[in-house]
Amino acid sequence: MLAKQALYRDLAVELDGLLADEPDFVANAANAAAAIYYSLPDLNWAGFYFLRGHELVLGPFQGRPACVRIPVGKGVCGAAATNRQTVLVPDVEAFPGHIACDPASRSELVVPLFAGATLLGVLDLDSPVVRRFDVDDQAGCEAMARVIERHLAR
Ligand code: SME
Repeated sequence: MLAKQALYRDLAVELDGLLADEPDFVANAANAAAAIYYSLPDLNWAGFYFLRGHELVLGPFQGRPACVRIPVGKGVCGAAATNRQTVLVPDVEAFPGHIACDPASRSELVVPLFAGATLLGVLDLDSPVVRRFDVDDQAGCEAMARVIERHLAR
């Protein structure tokens, strides 16, 4: 197994244990953001935006203060919410409409979160490194998202 796949497998197991005994949505989102931020290398932001009406509203995160409200359809997060699919941006400067919360961010991975068929919001990871995320990161983060949403949607 590749080191990266092992890292994501271990992190998914860690998250499952960390969140399992706590029903509070905010507490679990906060601990998930911290576990991800301190486990994955080369991140400058890791956290959540949750769907409130037609906007994504900032949730628990690690990193610099970020834009609070993102209309669905805007930026990388809004694109992931609209399409209900992961958006992997190797170079944010090549993504029209990217919202630069932290000018240090150079690449981004956004994974939508669901409760059944209902969109809960998105998990957003930013990196100061161009092409930080690849298809293995996408697969690993999507697997992590399935664990997290199980513990948020209770
Ligand atoms: N870059 C995101 C905005 C959120 S920050 O990266 C934390 C976007 O374009 O949606």
